[in-house]
Amino acid sequence: MRMANNDTPIEIFITGGTGYIGGSVLSRLLYSRGNRDTKFNITTLTRSPNKADALNSLKTGLRVTLRAVVGSNSNEAQLKQLASEAQVVIACADSDDLGAAKAILAGLKLRYERTRQVGYLLHTSGTGVLEDDARGMHSTETIYSDLDIKLLETLPLTQPHRKVDLTLVEADNQGTSFCQPVPNCRTNVCRAHASLGFVQTYIILPPTIYGVASGPLVESGIQNAHSQQIPRLIEVGIDRGQAGVIGAGQNMWPNAHIDDGEQLNDLKTSIVLSQSSDHCPNRPLSAPKVADMYIAIFNGALSANPKASHGRSGFYFAENGEHTMRLLVTSIAQVLHSMGLGDSPVPTTFTQAELDRYFGGGGRDGTSLGTNSRCRAERAKGLGWAPAKTTDDMLKSLPAEVEWVKRKWAKQN
Ligand SMILES: NC(=O)c1ccc[n+]([C@@H]2O[C@H](COP(=O)([O-])OP(=O)(O)OC[C@H]3O[C@@H](n4cnc5c(N)ncnc54)[C@H](OP(=O)(O)O)[C@@H]3O)[C@@H](O)[C@H]2O)c1
Repeated sequence: MRMANNDTPIEIFITGGTGYIGGSVLSRLLYSRGNRDTKFNITTLTRSPNKADALNSLKTGLRVTLRAVVGSNSNEAQLKQLASEAQVVIACADSDDLGAAKAILAGLKLRYERTRQVGYLLHTSGTGVLEDDARGMHSTETIYSDLDIKLLETLPLTQPHRKVDLTLVEADNQGTSFCQPVPNCRTNVCRAHASLGFVQTYIILPPTIYGVASGPLVESGIQNAHSQQIPRLIEVGIDRGQAGVIGAGQNMWPNAHIDDGEQLNDLKTSIVLSQSSDHCPNRPLSAPKVADMYIAIFNGALSANPKASHGRSGFYFAENGEHTMRLLVTSIAQVLHSMGLGDSPVPTTFTQAELDRYFGGGGRDGTSLGTNSRCRAERAKGLGWAPAKTTDDMLKSLPAEVEWVKRKWAKQN
C-alpha cells in the first residue's frame, strides 16, 4: 500500500491549474474528497500574479491546503524544486514542453533519492499523437485501443506529443528490467507493480474536449472555461461569414465532454477521492468528466490498483464517442446560420489562402482539424471511469459555444 497514512499529507503539484483541463482537475482535488482522513497539500503554478492571489485566497475543502506559486514552465529550476516537494505531479500546462517534463522528472527523482518514495506523474498528452495527413479527404480504419500497447508503439517519434510521452515512459522504465512480461498479455497488467524506479508515469490523452467548464474556479474567474478546437472553428466561421471545413471533412476525431453536469453525489465511490463535496452543501458541484479520469488514475495509482497501469502500459485515451469533421462543421454552420452569423447552413471548403491565414496551412503541421485520430478509451473505463455524454451532446453544446465566441468576438472587433 503506497498511500500516505492519515497523518501524512499527500503532497500534490499541479501545473496548468488555471486552464480548461487543469482547472477542472484542481477543482476536483479541492472540493470533492470522499476520504477526508487523508490530507492534501496542493501546490499549483501560474504565470499570472493576479490568479495566484485569487487562488491563495480561495476557501478550500476540509483538510486541503492550496498554495499558488507564480512561475512558468520555462523556469526549469523552479519546476524541479516544486516537483521535488511532491509525491504526485499532475501536468496540465503543455503537452509538448519537453524541458518542463524533464524538469518535473528530475524533481521527482530528487525526492525519491531523499525519501525512497516512488513519485507519480500524471501527464496530459493528446490523441493528436494518432493523427495522419488526410487533409479531410478520407477516414481511416485504424482505431487505436489504449490496451493495445504494441500498436501504440508503432507510432513514430515524429508524431505530435510523442517525444514527451516517450521520455516519461523511459523514466518509468528505469527499474523495471527485472520484469518478465507474460506472453500474449494484452493489457500488460502484469507490469503494473513491477516498477522499482523513482516514478510511475500515467499519460492521459484527451481528444476534442468540448463544453463549457464549470465550478468554483470558473465562477471566480480563475479558470479558462473553454476548449480549443471547436471554439477555433466557430471563430473562423464567424470571421469568414460561413463555417468552413478542411477538404471533404471525411476525417474522424474522438470527443469527450469536460463537464457532464452530473451531481457529485451520483458518482461512484472511489478510494481517495469520491462523491462527497465540501464545496457548498446546498449546491452540489458538477463533476467534470475529463477530470474524473485523472481522479480515477490518481486513486488507482495511490491505492496500487493493478489496473492502474503505468509506464509502457500507462496510456489512457479519454474519448466517449467520435465524429467526422463534416458532421461537426455542418452543425456549426447550422447554428451560425440560425444566429445570423453564417450565410448558409451548409459549410464550404476552406481555400488554400484561408488555410494559410487561419491554420498556418492545411496540413498536419498547421492544424489537426484535417487529420484522423481514432481510438477507444478502454483502459480508464476498466478503472471505473464512466463518462455519459456522447457525440450528440457535443452537437447540442454548440449554441452555447457560439454565444460565447460571439461575445468574445464582439469585444475584440
Ligand atoms: N482542450 C483540449 O481539447 C485538449 C485536447 C488534447 C490536448 N490538450 C492539451 O492539453 C494541454 C492543456 O490544455 P487546456 O485546454 O487545458 O489549455 P488551457 O486552458 O490553455 O490551459 C493551460 C494552462 O496552462 C498554463 N500554462 C500555459 N503555458 C504555461 C507555461 N509556459 N508555464 C506555466 N504555465 C503555463 C496556463 O496558466 P496561466 O496562464 O495561469 O499560467 C493555462 O491556464 C495543452 O497542451 C493542450 O494542447 C488539450
